[in-house]
Amino acid sequence: MKILLGITGGIAAYKSLELTRLFVKTGHQVQVVMTSGAKAFIQPLSFQALSGNPVRDSLFDCHQEAGMGHIELARWADQIVIAPASAETLAKLRMGRADDLLTTLCLATEKPIMVAPAMNRLMWSNKATQENVQILKQRGFEVLDPEEGKQACGEVGAGRMPEPQAIFEHTMNAQQQRQHLEQRLLDVRAFWQNRSILITAGPTIEDIDPVRFIGNRSSGKMGFALAEAAQKLGANVTLIAGPVQISSPPTIKRIDVRSADQMFHAVQQHYAGKDVFISAAAVADFKVAQKSVKKIKKQAQEEGLLLSLVKNVDIVAWVAEQENKPFVVGFAAETDHVLEYAKEKLKRKKLDAIIANEVGEGAKGFESNRNCVTLITKDGLQAFEEASKKQLGFQLLDAISSLGFNKTSVCN
Ligand code: CTP
Repeated sequence: MKILLGITGGIAAYKSLELTRLFVKTGHQVQVVMTSGAKAFIQPLSFQALSGNPVRDSLFDCHQEAGMGHIELARWADQIVIAPASAETLAKLRMGRADDLLTTLCLATEKPIMVAPAMNRLMWSNKATQENVQILKQRGFEVLDPEEGKQACGEVGAGRMPEPQAIFEHTMNAQQQRQHLEQRLLDVRAFWQNRSILITAGPTIEDIDPVRFIGNRSSGKMGFALAEAAQKLGANVTLIAGPVQISSPPTIKRIDVRSADQMFHAVQQHYAGKDVFISAAAVADFKVAQKSVKKIKKQAQEEGLLLSLVKNVDIVAWVAEQENKPFVVGFAAETDHVLEYAKEKLKRKKLDAIIANEVGEGAKGFESNRNCVTLITKDGLQAFEEASKKQLGFQLLDAISSLGFNKTSVCN
């Protein structure tokens, strides 16, 4: 692996000599980049001797740039490790500054970045530093927890850089996990390649008169995330969408509908020959028995307005009853008894799988960009940690691909 090791200003910089040695000893290539603060603590020559490469420390040095330009250097690395990472560097990374070589490299790369903070305990626990760390984590940086103990400044607390061996092991484990994930992604992609999938998403709207309707709070985000993930995994995607304000890539065949009847009609036209049907739409259970052609006037309703509602077709249950049906996955959005109700729906609607999620006050579900779901089949359940709907889209398709169905068994 090609490791770009960033050293910033801190007394722990001396420990990074040992870290360099561990990387080199195990066959990795190391290119050290030092900030001016780091050079106040330790000589570049020591890192040069251990890494076997000249140390880079300047963004504007013609000689260094002539060897390998900073953008090339950012591309060269498989992994960036910053150890020690000072409070100043964390703040600069959070702000996206590029006023030295190291921060510029971090801005110019999509490669994984691991940071091992090291600083005085009060600097570490300061809200500013903690906020910087949180934001960096959200952006995908791996931030190692500093160790507790006696500090160089004489104080005792959290802020010591982890030992070189621990940083080395973290780096190796992170690489292994990435390789594992990449392999998994290839497998999932191979599974979905050229499979055809039908997804419904969003709410349906039931008109009362030309200006009023009955609707629900579904945003369509989960269904659209599944459609986009499926398309990225190589599937042929047909998306039947209720009224939502979300765009979709042109490679997804999208059919916009308004009411449950229209959605049912579209599903009837498109379910045949599909490998999988995912019913993520929040289909209205009822429609108005007699839609008024004209706007209903308030004045004419002395006693209040009584609406007569009739049941809509249960679309997912209908698909599940068809011969040559696809693999059918429903959703159960519940405010309470989530798993219990979802299992009951799985059975009653004769689904192959159901994705349960909690909705309502305080829950993620509707309208949110994040969700927390459980995939249930007759054989068991798989709970997913709270994640963005986009991430869950991939995770759910990965899990569905493991449920043991294939095109031939579906079609026979
Ligand atoms: N569904 C459907 N057609 C309907 C109602 C629901 O296809 N007319 C699908 C949804 O897309 C979802 C699953 O059925 O995949 C469960 O929907 P949900 O509204 O939770 O269940 P209901 O059967 O409507 O039960 P209730 O509203 O009483 O909880």
